Amino acid sequence: MRALYAIASAVVALALAGCAGGAGNSTGGTAAGRPLAGAALYDPAHLPAGKMGALVREGYNIITQTHKFAKPYVVAQMQCSSCHIAGGTIPRGGYLRIAGHFPQWNKRSHRAIALQDRIAECFLYSMNGKPPAYDSRTMIAVVAYINWISRGQKTFSPIDPAVRIARIKPPAPPSVSRGAKIYAAQCSICHQATGAGIPGQFPALWGATSFNKGAGMAKLAMMAGFVRYNMPLGKAGTLSNQQAYDVAAFVESHKRPAFDKTAAIAFPPEPASFF
Ligand code: HEC
Ligand code: HEC
Repeated sequence: MRALYAIASAVVALALAGCAGGAGNSTGGTAAGRPLAGAALYDPAHLPAGKMGALVREGYNIITQTHKFAKPYVVAQMQCSSCHIAGGTIPRGGYLRIAGHFPQWNKRSHRAIALQDRIAECFLYSMNGKPPAYDSRTMIAVVAYINWISRGQKTFSPIDPAVRIARIKPPAPPSVSRGAKIYAAQCSICHQATGAGIPGQFPALWGATSFNKGAGMAKLAMMAGFVRYNMPLGKAGTLSNQQAYDVAAFVESHKRPAFDKTAAIAFPPEPASFF
């Protein structure tokens, strides 16, 4: 299964990079992701020297192996890269080349937020966990990684829709029963009939080990847009808009963890001498 998944990932990475007009992970091909001709967004052989390079590498490791490197902060059986495909280097696949867009106005919280706040949201909802403190090494490593893959991006540049997960509309209202058939034929081999996936290999789509109800991916339109361009892994782009909606409606018809909006988040205090 591991080998199948590795091959499937390679295929999907190539297929998607093709849509973006780049080679491998090398460019986003969009206004927000252009200036890196010939350079991979993330290449472990080309990182800043010394301790900063080590920090960027650590951020990449946290995004791709969240359970190993940020275990205290996550509950869901998924990695950041379960939704931010290839470490967030692929347009339409949860692209993370977005550092220049922060601070930004956040409609959900009715305030301007920093990149750390947006990362905290994904820890809270998508990983069904709790955010690391903003001055913790874990948070700073993730920020360093996202800044690194955003290098050259202009600050306060308008958000390019191509970097977002696609927003598509279904031709007809989605059908859970049609979605169930698509799921059995095209998804359950990896995500399993139970929706729980296989820990460490295939992420959970619903149930106790999946993302919670507050997550962006829990919205039907967001999941349909993600599935349309990124799934089934290895055959990305083969579903129609309608099929993507139908199968997303089937996935979303199952139970997932609740999100407690009233919970307060406390971070450890720092001694004044630290600064
Ligand atoms: C269950 C899927 C899922 C997981 C797991 C997940 N995210 Fe996200 N994340 C999303 C979605 C969906 C969005 C919104 C994307 C959009 O609007 O196009 C998002 C957006 C973001 C953004 C803002 C991107 C932008 O376009 O402004 C950041 C930063 C981010 N996530 C970081 C993380 C980090 C760090 C982790 C791991 C701790 C993580 N995410 C885990 C689904 C996920
Ligand atoms: C060949 C195995 C495979 C197949 C088939 C497959 N997936 Fe996935 N899926 C994955 C993997 C692996 C990831 C995590 C992304 C990564 O690691 O590149 C993923 C991620 C996801 C995610 C985001 C993460 C999460 O847990 O919510 C969704 C949603 C999803 N798949 C839905 C589907 C749907 C719907 C289908 C069927 C149309 C499908 N997948 C078919 C392997 C597969």
